[in-house]
Amino acid sequence: MQKTVFVVDDNEINLTIANEVLKGQYKVMTMPSASKMFALIEKVVPNIILLDIEMPEMDGFEALKRIKNNAALADIPVIFLTAMTDSDVEARGFQLGVIDFITKPFSPPVLINRIKTHLEIDEVIRERTSLLHQKTVQLQKLQNSMVSVIADMIENRDEGTGNHIERTTTYIRILIDAMIIRKVYAEELSVMDLDLLCSSARLHDVGKIAIPDAILNKPGKLTTEEYEIMKTHSIQGERIIDQMALHVGSNVEFLTNAKLFAGSHHERWDGKGYPRGLDRLNIPLHGRIMAVVDVYDALVSKRPYKDPFSPEEAVNIIMDSTGEMFDPLIVEVFNEVKEQFKAAFI
Ligand code: C2E
Ligand code: SIN
Ligand code: SIN
Ligand code: FE
Repeated sequence: MQKTVFVVDDNEINLTIANEVLKGQYKVMTMPSASKMFALIEKVVPNIILLDIEMPEMDGFEALKRIKNNAALADIPVIFLTAMTDSDVEARGFQLGVIDFITKPFSPPVLINRIKTHLEIDEVIRERTSLLHQKTVQLQKLQNSMVSVIADMIENRDEGTGNHIERTTTYIRILIDAMIIRKVYAEELSVMDLDLLCSSARLHDVGKIAIPDAILNKPGKLTTEEYEIMKTHSIQGERIIDQMALHVGSNVEFLTNAKLFAGSHHERWDGKGYPRGLDRLNIPLHGRIMAVVDVYDALVSKRPYKDPFSPEEAVNIIMDSTGEMFDPLIVEVFNEVKEQFKAAFI
């Protein structure tokens, strides 16, 4: 398919020459002003733009800025047409994102070959970018499936917890959405990719993989010693996620979030939690959110060591522990969306 070249110049002779030189190979569209170009570009998106610098009303610099500020147009290569060589003008042009200069009067071979070269480069960049995008999507899917498999393995070993991981992910989403609407820690949350954040929450109990079956699935109350071993699942989780990060070899937001969930979901607001005994806002936000969701789910579920509470009883237990175990601001939001928690799994 023929590529489209826009030529924008207030000098009609230049437009005619450019058209004559290029029309054999490209679909050439000429226009006498930048405003005419912006009108046309709504309908036709060119593969490359040749833009005169000195024009009445809107000059080339202004037009270039507008192109670069428009996400839909910013990738189109723009070449400046200029009557003379002026390194200040050239520096400013390159700084604003022009890819080349062609001097007037036109030399036909230069005009033809510059455009050919830039169109070829642009095509390679577009192909690579699209390939990269495909790979990224593929990798994202792979990551999600791996996390699901790991989460599933933890879940299936931890016999009592049923669909704990799936449920907590749903609860977390409800709570975080409600927090953002009510502007509770919304600034901190707004900089995060929420899908990724909620997905990473599924790894919060990954450290339970290192806990012996006899403790994890003990039908009754744990002894003090067993409970101490059980409590190591937070730190074990951090270690496992560190190992993953080591293999990936770079700082991955997903794993950073997963580590914060794993490492801080059993901290308590009063500082009597584990593994670090952090208190109040020293506890990462991840842990303060996860604590509410995790305990709610544990309370309404049957465990090898306990019968389920009703959602109402669970809410009451959590409300009673506000300020001791949980961040009061988060529990306030939780209390406002408790019906959504209840409705999510009936
Ligand atoms: P989990 O069963 O998912 O429980 C998560 C958290 O929910 C617990 O953290 C605790 O804060 C809260 N929770 C669970 N059940 C109750 C309850 O009946 N009443 C109240 N008020 N809170 C409750 P915790 O205590 O740090 O426990 C971490 C994990 O250790 C538990 O995860 C569970 O896997 C295991 N675990 C704790 N206690 C026992 C036990 O007595 N027997 C057995 N077999 N496992 C236990
Ligand atoms: C336990 O009693 O050790 C587990 C439940 C709880 O922390 O209240
Ligand atoms: C960490 O920062 O190493 C984990 C989260 C925490 O402070 O508990
Ligand atoms: Fe846990």
